[in-house]
Amino acid sequence: MENKIKQTNTAQLIIDGKTYELPIYSGSIGPSAIDVRALHKHTGHFTFDIGYTSTCSTESQITFIDGDKGQLLYRGYPIEQLAEHSTFLETSYLLIHGELPTKAQSEKFTKTITNHTMLHEQIETFFNGFRRDAHPMAMVCGTIGALSAFYHDNLDIEDNAQRDISMHRLIAKMPTIAARAYKYSIGQPTIYPDNSLSYSENFLKMCFAVPAEDYVVNPIIADAMDKIFILHADHEQNASTSTVRLAGSSGANPFACIAAGVACLWGPSHGGANEACLNMLKEIGTVDRIPEFVARAKDSNDPFRLMGFGHRVYKNYDPRAKVMQKTTHAVLKELGIKDSPVLDIAMELEKIALNDPYFVERKLYPNVDFYSGIVLSALGFPTSMFTVLFALARTVGWVSQWNEMLEDNTQRIGRPRQLYTGATERNYISINKR
Ligand code: SDX
Repeated sequence: MENKIKQTNTAQLIIDGKTYELPIYSGSIGPSAIDVRALHKHTGHFTFDIGYTSTCSTESQITFIDGDKGQLLYRGYPIEQLAEHSTFLETSYLLIHGELPTKAQSEKFTKTITNHTMLHEQIETFFNGFRRDAHPMAMVCGTIGALSAFYHDNLDIEDNAQRDISMHRLIAKMPTIAARAYKYSIGQPTIYPDNSLSYSENFLKMCFAVPAEDYVVNPIIADAMDKIFILHADHEQNASTSTVRLAGSSGANPFACIAAGVACLWGPSHGGANEACLNMLKEIGTVDRIPEFVARAKDSNDPFRLMGFGHRVYKNYDPRAKVMQKTTHAVLKELGIKDSPVLDIAMELEKIALNDPYFVERKLYPNVDFYSGIVLSALGFPTSMFTVLFALARTVGWVSQWNEMLEDNTQRIGRPRQLYTGATERNYISINKR
């Protein structure tokens, strides 16, 4: 990656009457940043930023979010345009390489991914070690981490070609692993990849086909699945992507880094929110119970929060949520589902919340997880698979960010500091004196 940050200003910091100058860098769009890398060396002070609300962990050229405008760009292209005109594999190429592929590049990339969709047959034995009632995210997290035990032939992260092979393997095998986890959890046999199908068609077939009968993919449903994958592909330095980068900064192998990202995404405040949101909508049950839950969400003494609402960066409508809502209606129409109580509750809840001062003042809007559970449920997935689907799509964002970090010569091992408020030095006391 060619570093493009440039100093455009200088900040002055005065501590105990002494003035320190700190460079201010600007990127191509978005807020400028104060370089504090030398702060401790010159002032003996750290910065304090729990949750990294005002901290850039890296320079990046992959994804940009303007939270106030509700804008999301993948390599400069608006998410709405990619969701409308692109495919998940074409978007994957864009995220990794920085440009939309030519026809020849697209065909080569698609062929490469398609040829890596199968899993080493011994992974079947690995899967059979899981309890039948294991959560699919547990199986996916464990299996991704285990891939370095099966694909250890190309793990030299300093070698571009070997990094490419690992990235292709992860993008290609994630749907096979996700589908395998689903089939295992419902006691159905593995459906092997079908290389005559597109990425999303193949995934749907591996999930919903059974050996006992033919399975024909519904093109409208496959298109919706592909769109959902595009929406979830990348999102700047979110918690799971930052986890992948931190693991990668130590030189860990790509499968270990992506497994760390899967683990972090699982949390209900992050990728687990889609599962939590549908469970919340089902718990609300009827439109007339919405006020009760909205009151709980506003009560600072109640830990309950509206799942699928709010975002660290978006202080406007999450653009992905708008596309997701449209996709939800299209899928329900295609499937002939005229009556969806959870959708009715979601739309009414959104209307109430967006007119309530508590949410308006805090700029809390629906995020990508608010509608995704409804459409995924309509597609036939159980709630336990929702975060698996998020991880499947985000794998390309994780590997793109991991690769960018390894190509960035300014990168170092991540090692945050702390503000220590624990015990000062004291001497050991033997047990008979305590
Ligand atoms: C994802 O980072 C990413 O990019 C993530 C993601 C991606 O693509 O990678 O976009 C995917 O994780 C989307 C977010 C999914 N999570 C949820 O839907 C869970 C519910 N949302 C909240 O937990 C919360 O909004 C977060 C975690 C998303 C953001 O938390 P922040 O930025 O730390 O915000 P905060 O907790 O400081 O909230 C600010 C205020 C607080 O009230 P006050 O203390 O000021 O009185 O808003 C309130 C919060 O209590 N608040 C909510 C709320 N979210 C924030 N109140 C009720 N319901 C909510 N959902």
